[in-house]
Amino acid sequence: MKTHTDKSTLVEELLADIENFKIAHNCDRLVMVWWGSTEIYHEAQEVHSSLAKFEEGLRTNDPDIAPSMMYAYAALKSGVPFAMGAPNLCLDIPALEELALLTNTPIAGKDFKTGQTLMKTIVAPGLRARALGVRGWFSINILGNRDGLVLDVPENFKTKEVSKGNVLDGILNGEQNPELWGDIHHKVRIEYYPPLGDNKEGWDNIDIFGWMGYQMQIKINFLCRDSILAAPIVLDLALFLDLAKRAELAGIQEWLSFYWKAPQTLPELEPIHDLFKQLEKLENTLRYLMGEELITNLGMDYYQNVEEDASY
Ligand SMILES: NC(=O)c1ccc[n+]([C@@H]2O[C@H](COP(=O)([O-])OP(=O)(O)OC[C@H]3O[C@@H](n4cnc5c(N)ncnc54)[C@H](O)[C@@H]3O)[C@@H](O)[C@H]2O)c1
Repeated sequence: MKTHTDKSTLVEELLADIENFKIAHNCDRLVMVWWGSTEIYHEAQEVHSSLAKFEEGLRTNDPDIAPSMMYAYAALKSGVPFAMGAPNLCLDIPALEELALLTNTPIAGKDFKTGQTLMKTIVAPGLRARALGVRGWFSINILGNRDGLVLDVPENFKTKEVSKGNVLDGILNGEQNPELWGDIHHKVRIEYYPPLGDNKEGWDNIDIFGWMGYQMQIKINFLCRDSILAAPIVLDLALFLDLAKRAELAGIQEWLSFYWKAPQTLPELEPIHDLFKQLEKLENTLRYLMGEELITNLGMDYYQNVEEDASY
C-alpha cells in the first residue's frame, strides 16, 4: 500500500517497483495487466490532452489524474505493455497514447468482456444476421463480491454503465437499418447482492420482432463465476501484448478487441463489438504476424481443386 499523496512521488515509486520486480524475478520482459477496482467516472480533461500537460499535472497533483493512469504512465515510461481490465478512462486519453508511441509500447483496453456483455456480443450478431428486429434489451447483473460493492456507488457505476452501454449500437446499427434497430430501449443495471459472493447472475430480457412485426422474447439467465471467466483473458493478454512488443507494434492494439467490453480504437474509428468479427481479426493478425495466409473463408480453391481432380 502506498501512503504518499504526492502524485510525482507515487509515480517514482511505481517506476522503482517495476524495475525491482524485473530484477527480483530475473525477467527480460514484463507486461502489466491492471485489474483493480472501478474508479469514479472521469471525462477527458485538458490535463489529459498531451503528455506535457499530463506530466505537469503529476507535478501539481491534478485531481483528474486517477490512480490507474499513474500505473499506466509508469508502465509505459518503462516500455512495459499495459492493459486496462477495468472500465476506467485511463488509457483512453491522448497523453498516454502519446507516451505509448514515444516508448514503442503496446496498449489495450478496456474492461474485460466476461459475463453479460460477452453473451450480448454473441447473441446480437445472430439477431442481426437473421434480420430480427429488437425493441428492447434489459440486462440486470446480480453480484456479491467486492466488485459489486464498488459498483453499488453511483459514481463508480457510471464508469461501468458507459463502458457497457455502446455494445449494442455497434452491432445492431440503427442508422443502417432504422426499421429493425432504430429504436432499441437498452437498459443496464448492476445490483450488489452479498449472498452470491464471487458468483454472478446475469438476466437478460430481449424484446424482438420478426416477420410482419410479430413480437417475441428471449430470456437469458447466465449463472457464472467472475474470476473463472476473467483469469484466462489476463493470461492471453499477457502473452499477446508481449508478442506485440516483440513484433514492434506500438500504441493501440485494436486486434485485441476480442477481450474488451469497450475496445480502444483510434478516435476516428468505430470499435468492433461483434465477438465473431473480433475473433477473425485476432486470428488474422496472428497469421499476419507469422507471415501466413489470412483466413477469408472463401473456400473456392478447395472446390476448384476437387473439380480439377474429378476431371482426371
Ligand atoms: N470477471 C471479472 O472479474 C471482471 C470482468 C470485467 C471487468 N472487471 C473489472 O475488473 C476490476 C476488478 O474486479 P475484481 O472483481 O477483481 O475486483 P476486486 O474488488 O476483487 O479486486 C480489486 C482489487 O483492486 C485493488 N485496488 C483498488 N484500488 C487500487 C489502486 N488504486 N491501486 C492498486 N490496487 C487497487 C483492491 O484492493 C482489490 O484488491 C473492476 O473494475 C471490475 O469491474 C472484472
